[in-house]
Amino acid sequence: MQRILIDTDPGVDDAFAILLALRSPELHVEAITTVCGNTPVVQATQNLLTILGVLDLDQFPVIAQGEAQPLVKPLVTAAHVHGEDGLGNTSQLRTANGSLLYPPANTEVSSMAGVDLILEMAARYPDELVIVTLGPLTNIAKAIRKDAPKMRRLRKIVVMGGVFEEYGNVTTTAEFNIFVDPHAADEVFQFGVPVHIAPLDATHQVILTGERLHAEVDKRDSPISRFLKDSTQACMEFYRQHVGFWGLHIHDALPIGMLTYPDYFKSVDAYVQVETEGTLTNGMTVADLRRERQPFNPNAQVCVKVTAEAFLDDFFERLQ
Ligand code: BDR
Ligand code: CA
Repeated sequence: MQRILIDTDPGVDDAFAILLALRSPELHVEAITTVCGNTPVVQATQNLLTILGVLDLDQFPVIAQGEAQPLVKPLVTAAHVHGEDGLGNTSQLRTANGSLLYPPANTEVSSMAGVDLILEMAARYPDELVIVTLGPLTNIAKAIRKDAPKMRRLRKIVVMGGVFEEYGNVTTTAEFNIFVDPHAADEVFQFGVPVHIAPLDATHQVILTGERLHAEVDKRDSPISRFLKDSTQACMEFYRQHVGFWGLHIHDALPIGMLTYPDYFKSVDAYVQVETEGTLTNGMTVADLRRERQPFNPNAQVCVKVTAEAFLDDFFERLQ
């Protein structure tokens, strides 16, 4: 069993990841912190409560709200992909009697700042805690700045972010999570704790079509599956118009999958840097993944290959 803390900016695909993590017996989700990214952080925290409300949990992870602004850049959000509320506008859905279709979980948001909860968890589980980041790396960089010795005792940081041999999804060269806070990403990658990255090159290999999603949902008709169907409608429409297929990439589910089904993911060592200055290349993750250029001084493992069908099969098996 691996103890994890999830740092997230929910986000339609963040919801897939959080639900998968909480349904994975290999993982114990100790805490979840929110960060600005897909939405402003207050909305991200509300979305997290909505996602947790879909599950029938006896005990919730500790949750805390994190940073409202990237380290240096002004915040850029992604409402055009994830809907106005960041969660496919599920917050507007009502039942026939007018109550919320997806009410928030009945759990408290801690009064601690996200950064302090991260540090507390790192201290409580030294050499054991794995942090999984599904959004910009602002909270993690701030925790490092505040108390590096505690953060050095993390077992590893698993990151959804970056792109190496493909185009970016926010600019030609940059992936969203790194683009929003490139300074934070660079500080985290250079810190020295093992980093494992699921970049777009990997997440694009997992194509969840609308047909597959709806077939899985209709097979199960559970609260989780209904939520997945409702929350993805706007996002899948965006993909139809702008990406070229009706469906979506469930980017953020991959770092969770890398912990639960490591055999489905092949990674290579790399030295990863982030462009923090460039005007055309701001937020670009730069690394030479060619095997013949190794070894050198790797600071990360980068996932390059995913056994996509097996991963999707297992994913839906768990999200009953
Ligand atoms: C990442 O950007 C966000 O919009 C998604 O939630 C995911 O974390 C993919 O580039
Ligand atoms: Ca995300």
